[in-house]
Amino acid sequence: MPKNKPLLLPWIDRSAKQILSRAGVDISLDEPMEWQKFRQFLAYCTGTNTLDQLASKTGLDSAAIEILVADLEQNGFVWNLPAYDEIPVKLFKAEFNRWLPIWVERMYDQPFWQELYDGTAPAAVFYGWAMENTHYTRTVISHMTLASRYAETGRWSAGQFNHLSEEWDHYQMFFKACAAATAPNLSLTDIRPLSSTLDITHFLRSRARQGTLVYNACEALLEASTVEADLVIDFYQTAGRKLNLNSTFIDELIRHVVVDQNFEHIDIFDHLLSNEESLTQDTVINIFSSCTQLVELFVLWHKQIYDHYRFYKLSELDRAS
Ligand SMILES: [Fe+2]
Repeated sequence: MPKNKPLLLPWIDRSAKQILSRAGVDISLDEPMEWQKFRQFLAYCTGTNTLDQLASKTGLDSAAIEILVADLEQNGFVWNLPAYDEIPVKLFKAEFNRWLPIWVERMYDQPFWQELYDGTAPAAVFYGWAMENTHYTRTVISHMTLASRYAETGRWSAGQFNHLSEEWDHYQMFFKACAAATAPNLSLTDIRPLSSTLDITHFLRSRARQGTLVYNACEALLEASTVEADLVIDFYQTAGRKLNLNSTFIDELIRHVVVDQNFEHIDIFDHLLSNEESLTQDTVINIFSSCTQLVELFVLWHKQIYDHYRFYKLSELDRAS
């Protein structure tokens, strides 16, 4: 423990007075003087100072620092390792799992989801979202093959290809849903994806070239909704009923959720990590950077879907029953 060098982790929100927030946890101290000392102490947590060095720099005694660091570590504000070239997988997973629900919440944190659920958003937004998912899911074949090609080991490459073999035709469920709901002669060659849909595809192709772990960390975000399949199905059914949507449209969307859930793709990233003792610092930084970029792309995607499709003229195509 004395050789450990605490490292303050990034993405700490300092916007509130005398409060530090990170991944849903707040730290606050009432005393302004104590708060100043605490901020100074954190400034020394650069991953280069041992606990003894922190004690001499801050004037706090070593025992108090040990307790403070343990508390900060448990609440996800610092890591406390002797060096940071390699990050133990256990530590990485705790950090990843801390952020996963926060990322997913931000990806789907747009008012129109609630409005669809309440039946007050235009139905075209729901159809449009499904159409863009048709385009997106159709392109998994272009990034999962790359992820397989750039896999670090033969076993991971085979695993990635197996995932593709289970996923490549899911666009047909979205397409069948859209065709049933809008135009029976709808052809994929007649329609083009939104720019933000293409952007996500291109981004995932770029992540696939970074290797299996980085790519599948991003995939873990995309598969995360299958954890709460019941909630997703309730959303489809309720929005479908309130917006009087075509029953095949809803049935196909539900079928996709069930198929995804049964494949247990949500566990792929954990299975990959179960073979590893540690990850390089570069890999860890790449994973967190990639996931946060993907989240922001999703926010833009959903915004563009809403902005584009809410004015979309479906009236002459809509065969809702
Ligand atoms: Fe799928």
